[in-house]
Amino acid sequence: AAAEKGGHDYFMLKEIEEQPTAIADTLRGHLVDGRIVLDEQRLTDQDLRDVDKVFVVACGTAYHSGLLAKYAIEHWTRLPVEIEVASEFRYRDPVLDRSTLVVAISQSGETADTLEALRHAKEQKARVLAICNTNGAQIPRESDAVIYTHAGPEIGVAATKTFTAQVAANYLVGLALAQARGTKYPDEVVREFHELEAAPKAVETVLESLGEARALGQLLADSKAVLFLGRHVGYPVALEGALKLKELAYMHAEAFAAGELKHGPIALIEPGLPVIVVMPSPKGRAVLHSKLLSNIQEIKARGARTVVLAEAGDETVKPFADHLFELPPISTLLQPLVATVPLQVIAAEIARARGYDVDKPRNLAKSVTVE
Ligand code: G6P
Repeated sequence: AAAEKGGHDYFMLKEIEEQPTAIADTLRGHLVDGRIVLDEQRLTDQDLRDVDKVFVVACGTAYHSGLLAKYAIEHWTRLPVEIEVASEFRYRDPVLDRSTLVVAISQSGETADTLEALRHAKEQKARVLAICNTNGAQIPRESDAVIYTHAGPEIGVAATKTFTAQVAANYLVGLALAQARGTKYPDEVVREFHELEAAPKAVETVLESLGEARALGQLLADSKAVLFLGRHVGYPVALEGALKLKELAYMHAEAFAAGELKHGPIALIEPGLPVIVVMPSPKGRAVLHSKLLSNIQEIKARGARTVVLAEAGDETVKPFADHLFELPPISTLLQPLVATVPLQVIAAEIARARGYDVDKPRNLAKSVTVE
């Protein structure tokens, strides 16, 4: 068994380390003669041009990747994007027609809720695009177009490399739509693609500090609860960090959009409570950065134990960070690819410190094939 884990203490750690490859393999072959291509496409270019609204449906970690799809697709295409957990989607009579594109994201391609959401969308004549890690699974089989994530089989029940691969695939959907609609010039699409292609290198940089993230996890292991704060694309990252912690360490963990802090969550802050904050780059979104900085000051003043993920060289956070984890500089939309990694590691290490089996968390299944 030790050999299967490639010398790692647990599978999940091996899979965390495979993320640069998972992202690179997912992108490979999608830029052909200066154009973004999908893996399977039973839709015409005209069909893509006719799309006037996008719905993203998924469950669990795939849903968190879908939240990020909204930022990229709206930004690049100016199409309205809604995102919803698959189990809620079909029971509330969503407004769909043949100009709606429904993006179903599923690692396994067999999740019952996501499959049923897709079928419901098709009954309403919507077009369906699947993002899936499993060749020939039901969800891609029933879709009009497919992008496969090439993360390889994921053994750890808690999704890691399939998440970052899904984020990359979601961005490909955004670029493909921008290309079809002409909301971006062809050379801009190519430039965005190359930037995405450079992300695996940045993830490698994060992995060099894996030891630091592991130590941080060990330090937080006896906490009662952990809060996560993020804003803009940092918010889905915070949600995913909290989910990993619930799944692996059975710890009460909650994520909030940082702007909501004063609308309730700040009441939870008490001395010693760890709060993990995902900081945007000070260069990328300066406004967001300054708002989050004041959030850190507020929680620190109330005694929180602040764990800050910030861009390397960001001096402003230092006075308020009890623990600082530095992220390599990367563009705003791509930051989730680097920021999620330490949160995966922290959750796994807290679980280990508490004596739990990281690869087989209690009560959870790798894929949920009943509604
Ligand atoms: C289960 C797994 C999660 C996964 C979710 C969606 O809850 O434990 O890790 O994110 O299902 O699975 P899917 O295969 O559709 O991505």
